[in-house]
Amino acid sequence: MSEAVEIFEVGPRDGLQNEPRLISSQDKIALVDLLSGAGFKRIEVASFVSPKWVPQMATSAEVLMGIARQTGISYAALTPNKRGFEAAVAAKADEVAIFGSASEGFSKANINASIKESLERFRPVAEAAHVAGIPVRGYISCTVNCPFDGPTPPSAVAHVAEQLHAMGCYELSLGDTTGHAYPEEIAKMLSAVRAAVPLAVLAGHYHDTSGRALDNIEASLDAGVRVFDAAIGGLGGCPYAPGASGNVATEAVHARLSALGYDTGLDAGVLARAANMARGLRGEGAI
Ligand code: HMG
Ligand code: MG
Repeated sequence: MSEAVEIFEVGPRDGLQNEPRLISSQDKIALVDLLSGAGFKRIEVASFVSPKWVPQMATSAEVLMGIARQTGISYAALTPNKRGFEAAVAAKADEVAIFGSASEGFSKANINASIKESLERFRPVAEAAHVAGIPVRGYISCTVNCPFDGPTPPSAVAHVAEQLHAMGCYELSLGDTTGHAYPEEIAKMLSAVRAAVPLAVLAGHYHDTSGRALDNIEASLDAGVRVFDAAIGGLGGCPYAPGASGNVATEAVHARLSALGYDTGLDAGVLARAANMARGLRGEGAI
């Protein structure tokens, strides 16, 4: 039997958050509902952030409350602070994510806090989630490059990873936020991080600006990582990472992993239909 590798679908959040045209809740719900039939165990649907910072995510509660939940799928939401956590719980998010950065410049631009301040802000979220029995995932952005500070030292990523892990994050998603990393850089970063936290808690979150995300996934597989975030149709980017394009496309990750002999548990036909829908939402027209 082939070894399992999980793809964590983040398109409805990381993908759609960057779309300049406001997408209706009905369209977002239809995309999530279609994705729910593809075989994912986890889908990131929403983000409870300031609507002034990310207007596209202002309808997150409506979307989370409107989806047709399938048993066995964890529907996730980003929560930058306690207020976001409370809103996510009210909208019945199955799990939440706190999102920090390994570089000061991006931390300030994205969540208006230094790394130290952000960790202080995350702690009450992690504690409240623990009390409520809600799993918390941790993101670390700019693990290789920062659009403001340049190259990120691997030791800085390991430092943030250690603290998020100590707060109780069950998994740490390591972002190549700008999408410019090379496989050798990913390997170096992973080697530093796995010295600080268990390898089994690591996930790769690679944007595909330079077209190397699939190679970066292969480098991560070699290092033992078995979870990768991806966005259907290659949607998105981060509004606070200038020039960064979308996450690596889910359907492309599925195809590469399958060719390498891994089992993603996903249905390629449903992925193709969802990728078409995602491109339609982006205004590219279905193919
Ligand atoms: P701030 O301005 O420092 O905080 O923002 P504040 O407390 O002064 O609040 C500012 C306004 O936001 C206030 O409203 C608050 O009430 C409101 P006002 O009084 O001006 O009308 N507010 C909220 N509203 C709704 N929900 C909340 C909330 N909190 C405050 N939870 C803050 C700090 C964190 C809120 C802001 O910086 C923010 O929302 N940032 C989010 C940025 C974001 O969502 N970026 C994209 C996601 S991260 C990403 O994509 C990277 C990732 O994919 C990994 C990778 O690729 O590397 C995860
Ligand atoms: Mg991202």
